[in-house]
Amino acid sequence: MTGEFDRAIAILNENDRGGYTVPTKGLYPFQWNWDSCLTALGQRHIDEGRAWTEIETLLDHQWPDGMVPHIIFHEDDDGYFPGPATWRTGRPVPTSGITQPPVLGFVLRRLFEQAHDRDLAHNRVRALVAKAAAWHRWFADCRDPEATGLVAILHPWESGRDNAIDWDGPLAAVPRDGVTAYVRRDTEHVDPAERPTMEEYDRYLWLVERFRSMGWDNTKLHDASPFQVVDPGVNAILLRSEEDLAALAEDLGETVIAAAARERAARMRAAFDTLWSDAAGLYLAYDRVSGRLIDSPSVGGLLPVFAGSGNADRLSAMAATCERWRSGVSVGVPSHDPTDDRFEPRRYWRGPCWLIVNYMIADGLRRHGFEGQASVIVNDSLDLIRHSGFAEYYDPTDRTACGGCRFTWTAAMVLEFLAASVTNAEDI
Ligand code: DGY
Repeated sequence: MTGEFDRAIAILNENDRGGYTVPTKGLYPFQWNWDSCLTALGQRHIDEGRAWTEIETLLDHQWPDGMVPHIIFHEDDDGYFPGPATWRTGRPVPTSGITQPPVLGFVLRRLFEQAHDRDLAHNRVRALVAKAAAWHRWFADCRDPEATGLVAILHPWESGRDNAIDWDGPLAAVPRDGVTAYVRRDTEHVDPAERPTMEEYDRYLWLVERFRSMGWDNTKLHDASPFQVVDPGVNAILLRSEEDLAALAEDLGETVIAAAARERAARMRAAFDTLWSDAAGLYLAYDRVSGRLIDSPSVGGLLPVFAGSGNADRLSAMAATCERWRSGVSVGVPSHDPTDDRFEPRRYWRGPCWLIVNYMIADGLRRHGFEGQASVIVNDSLDLIRHSGFAEYYDPTDRTACGGCRFTWTAAMVLEFLAASVTNAEDI
C-alpha cells in the first residue's frame, strides 16, 4: 500500500505549479476546473492547506456572472490547442468561455467535514461556499432558462465526457463549415486513436467561434446554441453538489444559501424522472433541440447513483447495469455499454474506464447500500494502477493505459481509495 500511496503523492507534487495543479505535463498544461476540484481531495491527504488553495485559485477566476470556467490559462504554453487566442474571453487572466461538471459543492463538503485542521477549514470554507452558490445560481439561470429543473450543456466539453457516444446525434447538427484553420496539439501528445476525431474537433471549434461571436454573453448563449443537451451525468453531479452545498451552508449558519440550494435540488430531483429508461436500466441524455431522449447507454446515465436519483428500484437497476457491463470486460466501469456496437475500448470517453468516474459511482453505491458492488469498483481501480500505472484512462478489456500518463486526478483518486481503506480497517 505504502508504495502506491507514495507514487500517487509524487505525481501530485510533480504536477503542482504552486497554487494550482496541471492534469498532466504536456497534454494539459493549465488548470482545469473539475480536475482541480477532484485533485484537492487527494491533496488533503498530504497538506490540507494546499487542498484549500487549489480550490481558491480556481474560484479566483470565476466570472462576474457566476460561471466557473473550464480552463484557466495561468501561463503561456503553445503545446495546447485551443488556447487563449482562440477563446478570447477578455478575462484579466485568460480563461475558456464554457464550464465543466460542478463537482465543487461535493468536494467542499468532503474537505470541510473530514478536515483534521478544523480552524483552518472554518477559515477557508466560508468564502468558497458563497462562490459555489453563485455558480449554482448561474447554472439555473443560464442553462435552464425555462425552469425545467435540469440544466443543459452547450458544448460537449462541458460534460467532461468530451466525445461520448451520447453527443454523436446532437453534434451532427452543429456545422463544420467556416471554422478558422487550426492545428490540433493533443494528437502530438497522445495516439490519435485514443482521442476525438477531426470531425468532432471541427464541430467543437465551430461552437467556440459561435459563442465568441456573441461576446460570451451567457444570457444569450443557451437559446442561440445548436447544441443543447441535458446530460444526466452533469445534472447528477450538480444535484449532489447542491445537496452537499445546502448541508455545508446549514452547518455554517448560511441559511439563505442553504434554502436556495435545497429548493433547486428538489426541482432537479423531480425532473430527473423524465430521463429514466427501463430498457437501458439507466438515465439517458435528452436533446433539447430535437426534443428527444438519446439512445446511448453510457456511464453518464449511471452517474445519477452518485446523487441517489430515483427510488430504490432505480438505484438497484443502475447497480445491476454496472454489474452487467462489468461482466463483459476485465475491469469496470467502462464509460459505455460494452455490448453496444459503438463501444470503442480505447477512444477517450467511448468505452475506457476513468478512475474519477469509478470514485463517484462507488461513493454513490456505498451510500445507498450497495457495498459489495462499490468494493468491486474500488478493487478494479487499484488493480488498474498496479497493472498499468497512473494513466488518464484505461482499456477495460485488457487494462492498457491510454491517453496521458502520470495523471493528477488518477493519483488523487488512488489516495482517496487507499485512505478510505485504512479508515475502514481502523473502524473494524
Ligand atoms: C481537451 O482538450 O481534451 C479537454 O478535454 C477539453 O477541455
